[in-house]
Amino acid sequence: MNKIFKIIHKKKNKSKLVCLTAYSKNIASLLDKYCDIILVGDSLGSVLYNYKSTREVTLEIMINHSKSVRLGVKKSIMVVDMPYNTYQDTKQALKNAKLVMKKTKCDAIKLEGGKKIIPIVKNLVKNNIPVMGHLGILPQTDKKFSFKGKKLFERNKIIKEAKLLESAGIFSIVLECVETKLSKEITKFLKIPTIGIGSSANCDGQVLVVDDLLGLGNTKLKFVKKYINLNKIIKDAVKKYKSEVINKKFPNKKHSF
Ligand code: KIV
Repeated sequence: MNKIFKIIHKKKNKSKLVCLTAYSKNIASLLDKYCDIILVGDSLGSVLYNYKSTREVTLEIMINHSKSVRLGVKKSIMVVDMPYNTYQDTKQALKNAKLVMKKTKCDAIKLEGGKKIIPIVKNLVKNNIPVMGHLGILPQTDKKFSFKGKKLFERNKIIKEAKLLESAGIFSIVLECVETKLSKEITKFLKIPTIGIGSSANCDGQVLVVDDLLGLGNTKLKFVKKYINLNKIIKDAVKKYKSEVINKKFPNKKHSF
């Protein structure tokens, strides 16, 4: 585990970790100064491509967006989601993860899942590929997207899997829509930092899809907070541009050769 990850671990129980998604250079470069971790999430499937699920996202799409994000990330840890069906066994996972690391120059990859992926995680870590885990709602495989930890068997399963993943060598874990007390318990017993999304302030850090935070698109998820309404700001700017083009105010002499 290199220096960057040691820094992240040092923040546990001291200061919160700030994490956001990015899918392209310009946004990534704006976030970089303020984030500890920038995630090229496969949420780009629904956010950018209108896919019904993240299962449609390919390795090629992830690599292309990650290359763009890399251009904007100078200081944050850059993590790339491995898409669905690209880490089904140890051999395939290692081949694809190596490709992602090589082509995108990211710092780490993220995998969804628990018990089933333990040998895969161990093999990646053994081969010096830093892995972030992801428990709670698993968009790549879950059929129903309701919060996790209502039932005792579900709580016990998440707890067991979090411990297994930590022992397998992950450096951090995303907890997606995990019940408040359960995320507190997991955060307390894990030595690695937990990054929550819809999992309360009890986690060591938070992640959001940046388009949701900026008010781009129309998400109405309970755990999203819009910090600005970019939809409106962009619409107003484009409306003004249209009016100036139609009324021959743009381009004027200043914008002409
Ligand atoms: O794909 C993604 O953006 C994610 C975050 C929501 C954690 O996995």
